[in-house]
Amino acid sequence: MRISIFVCCFALNIILLASMTKAENGDLVDQICKKTPFYDLCNSTLHSNPLSPKIDLKGVALIMVNNILANATETLSYIERLIKQTSDRGLEQALAFCAESYIPIVKYTLPQAADAISQGRFGFASYCISDAMKEVSTCDKRFSGSTQSPLGDRNGFMQKLVDVASAIIKLLQG
Ligand SMILES: *[C@@H]1O[C@H](CO)[C@@H](O)[C@H](O)[C@H]1NC(C)=O
Ligand SMILES: *[C@@H]1O[C@H](CO)[C@@H](O)[C@H](O)[C@H]1NC(C)=O
Repeated sequence: MRISIFVCCFALNIILLASMTKAENGDLVDQICKKTPFYDLCNSTLHSNPLSPKIDLKGVALIMVNNILANATETLSYIERLIKQTSDRGLEQALAFCAESYIPIVKYTLPQAADAISQGRFGFASYCISDAMKEVSTCDKRFSGSTQSPLGDRNGFMQKLVDVASAIIKLLQG
């Protein structure tokens, strides 16, 4: 009898605790995303990751940067696939130009931004993020002109994610 009451209450407590931290995380995500230029994108990106119950602003910034890294990595392999497939020389050159933008983002800029956030060097993180933003728009501009950009949507999505990350890092900088 005593054991079953104990087990019952223990289980109930876990459920209560779990729903509480979930709600608190939801609040934190909501509060943070409201301070970014793209609420829905911020909210859906953060909710698509498992958030630890003790997540804080720094943890949220890290998740966002790692998400951008995953997306940039995917876009880079997409660019490399397109380069192999196309027989249009102009397009091939433009894609190669964009690969040159995405390679440093994937290899250095975003991993450095993540490290900097972990180490509390938010100024440097902010610098890395604006560097990534520049690289993406450099790639995007390469297509402005005659050629229809096969990367327009992806670049646009990246730019929004980077804008969101930049706003979150500004919050960290206080
Ligand atoms: C945030 O995202 C979650 C999960 O996708 C969703 O359930 C919730 O309604 C969103 N919040 C707002 C205010 O849109
Ligand atoms: C990256 O962004 C595109 C939208 O341009 C999306 O379709 C894709 O699922 C994302 N990939 C990752 C790994 O987040």
